[in-house]
Amino acid sequence: MSVLTAENLSKMYGGKRGIQYEALQHFNLSVNKNEFIGIMGPSGSGKTTLLNLLSTIDTPTSGKIRINGQSVTSLSKHKLAIFRRRQMGFIFQDYNLLETLTIGENILLPLTLNKVKVKEMEKKLVAVTKQLGIDQLIHKRIFEVSGGQMQRAAIARAIIHEPTIIFADEPTGNLDSKASLQVMEALSSLQESGKTSVLMVTHDPFAASFCGRVIFIKDGKLFNEIHRGDNRQSFFQDILNVQSLLGGNMDDFHSIRV
Ligand SMILES: Nc1ncnc2c1ncn2[C@@H]1O[C@H](COP(=O)(O)OP(=O)(O)O)[C@@H](O)[C@H]1O
Ligand SMILES: [Mg+2]
Repeated sequence: MSVLTAENLSKMYGGKRGIQYEALQHFNLSVNKNEFIGIMGPSGSGKTTLLNLLSTIDTPTSGKIRINGQSVTSLSKHKLAIFRRRQMGFIFQDYNLLETLTIGENILLPLTLNKVKVKEMEKKLVAVTKQLGIDQLIHKRIFEVSGGQMQRAAIARAIIHEPTIIFADEPTGNLDSKASLQVMEALSSLQESGKTSVLMVTHDPFAASFCGRVIFIKDGKLFNEIHRGDNRQSFFQDILNVQSLLGGNMDDFHSIRV
């Protein structure tokens, strides 16, 4: 069953002297329930544009997006804000945690916004922090924990309201290899619930190798897509192979972690 479909999606940006730039061209994508998808491509290829359109942060010039059967391209601003808060979770490269709050308070934010009862909030907080191995950190402040722990707290915040789909933009971009591994294992573990789909933009082949499918974008169009078999190491190699076919600037440090 697909939880998200994008049909014939295009995005034009206005430039100087009215010159338009087509950052995304007639793009189609279908995301299945519980699928973990990586989005890769050279810098400037349209990855962030695609993620912003799918997550309704930005609106397409043309095309349709349906999430959980709802056409999001036709929702009013107000309805869209509510829809986003209930159905989506977000993870960013720089964590986006609030420094004035504890880890626990940060994780609870989506539930606070959706007016969930306190008892239920506490139960969910314990469950989600145990799942991510950060249950001992609930009362700590942001500056008392490591980058990897912050990102796991951000993942907890993204999943605590059980969204349909999670959007992650370079979630391992600021992390060393050990913390990246922990974060990718945490993201992979979301698949066990059977409910959450994840769309992750990354330039890191190591991070992408945890996905079930990786789509490659070039010049605003789909270039290739590959599926993972049983073996993450060989998928990592497949990803490197497509990257070398793609050429271009992958942003990039070349990862040799396996
Ligand atoms: N707000 C904007 N206005 C004009 N051009 C933009 C804007 N955002 C992105 N672009 C252009 O669209 C293309 C795709 O950008 P982006 O989606 O950010 O690529 P990526 O995330 O793959 O690096 C680039 O050429 C970029 O310069
Ligand atoms: Mg980008």
